[in-house]
Amino acid sequence: MKAGIAQNEAARRLASLCAGAGVQPRVAVIAGSGLGALAERVEVARREEMDRVLGVAAPPVGGHARELLLGSWAGVPVLLFLGRYHLYQGLSAAEVATPVAALAGSTVRALVVTNAAGGIDERLQPGDLMLIADHLFLPGLAGQSPLIRPSSQAGIEFVPMRDAYDPELRALARQVASELGLPMREGVYAMVAGPSYETSAELRMLRLLGAQAVGMSTAPEVVMARALGIRVLGISVITNRAVPEETKAPSHEEVLEAGRRAGPLLARLIEQLLPGLVES
Ligand code: 6GU
Repeated sequence: MKAGIAQNEAARRLASLCAGAGVQPRVAVIAGSGLGALAERVEVARREEMDRVLGVAAPPVGGHARELLLGSWAGVPVLLFLGRYHLYQGLSAAEVATPVAALAGSTVRALVVTNAAGGIDERLQPGDLMLIADHLFLPGLAGQSPLIRPSSQAGIEFVPMRDAYDPELRALARQVASELGLPMREGVYAMVAGPSYETSAELRMLRLLGAQAVGMSTAPEVVMARALGIRVLGISVITNRAVPEETKAPSHEEVLEAGRRAGPLLARLIEQLLPGLVES
C-alpha cells in the first residue's frame, strides 16, 4: 500500500469524524478478540465501520467486528476501536497499524491496547489478565515493521522501544487492579504472525526467549504509537494455556469465548483507569 499517503488520508478522515461528532478523544482503546464488552459502558456519540473510515480493505474474520466508536467513558472522551487488523489477513504491518497511524496530529495522548493471548507461563490460567511489561515482536524483528513503508517518502524513523509499555501507566494499572481486588500478573507478550497456533517446539522456544504470553497482534500498533509519541498501556486476556505439555489444541472459538467471559473484568479495570490516564 502507498502507506504514507493512505495513513495521512486516514488521519484526515478520522479528524473530520471527531469534529463532526464533537468529540476530541484523549484516550484510544483497541479491543481485541471477543472483547466487545468494552463498548458497553461507553456513551456513544458516533459509531462507524473501521474499514470505511480508515480505508483498509480486509476480509472479515469470524468473531472480529471492526467498528470505531467515539464517545465518553468514565467522563473521558475516548475513541474505541472494536476489532483490529492482523498480519494473517494478508495485510502489511503498516496497514495493521493504520488505526494508530490515524491518530497522528490528534488529541489522543494515551493508547490502551488489549488482546487475547495464550498463557505460556504455567501460572497464567484462562480468564486471567496480564499487564504487558514488554514485547517480542517476532515479525517486526524479521522485517515486518509498520515503520517500513514503500519508498518511505516521510523519511526513516529510528524509534526507541525501551519502556514502550509506559512504566508510569503500568504502575497506575497495578494500583487500580489492586484497589479493585483484581489479581493481575505482568509479563512479556510475544507476537507471532499466525494464523496457525504454535507447535510444541515453538512454545518451548518462546518460553526460552522469556515470553509469558503469545498472540497474533498488538506489537505493530504499539510501535506506531511510540513513533507518534503516544503513551501505551497493554493488557492481555489469557484465553487458553499455551504450554508444550498441554494436549488440548487451542481453537478460535475457545479464544473468543474466554475473551467474552473476561471482557467485563477488563472493562471494569479500564473504566477505573481512564481518568488517571488523562491526568498522567
Ligand atoms: Cl496459544 N497462540 C497465539 N499465537 N495466539 C493466541 C493464542 C495462542 N491464544 C490466543 N491467542
